[in-house]
Amino acid sequence: MARILITSALPYINGIKHLGNLVGSQLPADLFARYMRARGHEVLFLCATDEHGTPAELAAAKTGQPVAEYCAELHEVQAEIARRFGLSFDHFGRSSSPQNHRLTQHFAGKLAENGLIREVTEKQVYSNADGRFLPDRYIEGTCPNCGYERARGDQCENCTKQLEPTDLIEPRSAVSGSTDLEVRETKHLYLCQSALRDDLDQWIDSKSDWPVLTTSIAKKWLHDGDGLQDRGITRDLDWGIPVKKGDQDWPGMQGKVFYVWFDAPIEYIACAAEWAEATGNDWERWWRTDKGADDVRYVQFMGKDNVPFHTLSFPATILGSREPWKMVDHLKSFNYLNYDGGQFSTSQGRGVFMDQALDILPADYWRWWLLSHAPESSDSEFTWENFQQSVNKDLADVLGNFVSRITKFCRSKFGETVPAGGEFGPDETALIETLTGRIRAYEGHMQAMEVRKSAQELRAIWVAGNEYLQSAAPWATFKTEPERAAAQVRLGLNLIRLYAVLGAPFVPEAAARMLSAMNTLDTSWPDDVAAALTALPAGHEFTVPEVLFAKISDEQREDWESRFAGQRG
Ligand code: MF3
Ligand code: ZN
Repeated sequence: MARILITSALPYINGIKHLGNLVGSQLPADLFARYMRARGHEVLFLCATDEHGTPAELAAAKTGQPVAEYCAELHEVQAEIARRFGLSFDHFGRSSSPQNHRLTQHFAGKLAENGLIREVTEKQVYSNADGRFLPDRYIEGTCPNCGYERARGDQCENCTKQLEPTDLIEPRSAVSGSTDLEVRETKHLYLCQSALRDDLDQWIDSKSDWPVLTTSIAKKWLHDGDGLQDRGITRDLDWGIPVKKGDQDWPGMQGKVFYVWFDAPIEYIACAAEWAEATGNDWERWWRTDKGADDVRYVQFMGKDNVPFHTLSFPATILGSREPWKMVDHLKSFNYLNYDGGQFSTSQGRGVFMDQALDILPADYWRWWLLSHAPESSDSEFTWENFQQSVNKDLADVLGNFVSRITKFCRSKFGETVPAGGEFGPDETALIETLTGRIRAYEGHMQAMEVRKSAQELRAIWVAGNEYLQSAAPWATFKTEPERAAAQVRLGLNLIRLYAVLGAPFVPEAAARMLSAMNTLDTSWPDDVAAALTALPAGHEFTVPEVLFAKISDEQREDWESRFAGQRG
């Protein structure tokens, strides 16, 4: 049994996330967490809302609420939706927590002690029309790297380059659109990332099993000329973690806060502290290598735009502290999911958002589609037609139909009890062999976080059961060899339990219903498939479940297609 720490990129607080956000971090992280728990490992799965910075301030301003109140409210909203999506966090924290204040200030203090922080009097964009400095997202313009015209002051969405607001060409205020901007002086702290280049280089080289998408992005920013510039870690904002050295004031920095990308990843650690405080656990054994975290395996999930922050900025914070913190072992990153010929967009309200998705269909439908189409090797696209097809085929025809056929047939001929009699013959042996091979392959893909391949294998496992049922045809056998039909049905009922156990990471609600219909709490993993298929013995009672998955009709599809064609209201 291993200990596995899993974090998903922290969703910004500013509103409900869309399905593209979900599939890029929280959902695959949940898949992995559920799988690892099912295999008997000790898992700590953490996520939190990312509450500071301009996105939060801008969103709160829009609602007219004080930002702290807005964040508290939106945190609850996101927590509830995450719960309804079956995201099985051990703790869903907040980057604005007291724990994160303390830790962020602690890290800044350590970095300063180690000579890795410079104070810089810099020129910053000031908007006369808005009467304020314009950091990060308060300013938009053209990316100096790729020419994208809607780049933000902190990062270009298009080419993923991290930017400073003054890098932008033809800048304008995101608050008012005003171009009446001037440059004024203000003092800020810079993290000397360039001094950590060799440490980072070595550390990345030690991660030989990282996916190409991850390493190539990291190496690109590490070596591309100006890739690893020193980085401003403070901002002239009201909302955020006050700039301090540990618990000491930082002269000259009154009224300033840490930059959101400095404190957000530290919340991965603080979140464990929140969890520990709430549950009476010890968080240091997960995060301090001098307190037992040495044998923790730490896996992070995120979208590709987050990779530079997790391979360079956050590791720079940790390495620069010269303290024994646990660092990420495996970083799983995703491309983008597009929506029906364009991009999902929070700012433009384009696509399907998590709350809307759940208003239409239960979580499992979405979980299955999203995970089986996860944008791993390239971007992928959501279309309603593809969604309909995949739900109707994979979930309704393959899995749902199998469960319904076998349970109903058994009820009609043998009653709601696993039938006795007969024995497994060559067909059953062949099926067990096929399943064994496929289940071992499934384990391999899940272990490697190959999400699509895992889904394909799971589907193939479901298909194998259907094909067996189709060729064994107990409804025909029953007429001439009722004993043999009993053995076939017994196997079929046991397959339902097996499918529930294997499929639970993908479709947890359906899996729970299958297990409850099979009247069993036995969720043991099928290390030995033949044995797993005798878990429900003859005489064991069960019930026929309600339809597991309803098919999506053409009318529904068309209705949703047009309902979600425009912008979110
Ligand atoms: N909120 C960021 C985003 O959605 C992700 C933050 S991840 C963390 O892109 F490292 F900061 F925690
Ligand atoms: Zn760009």
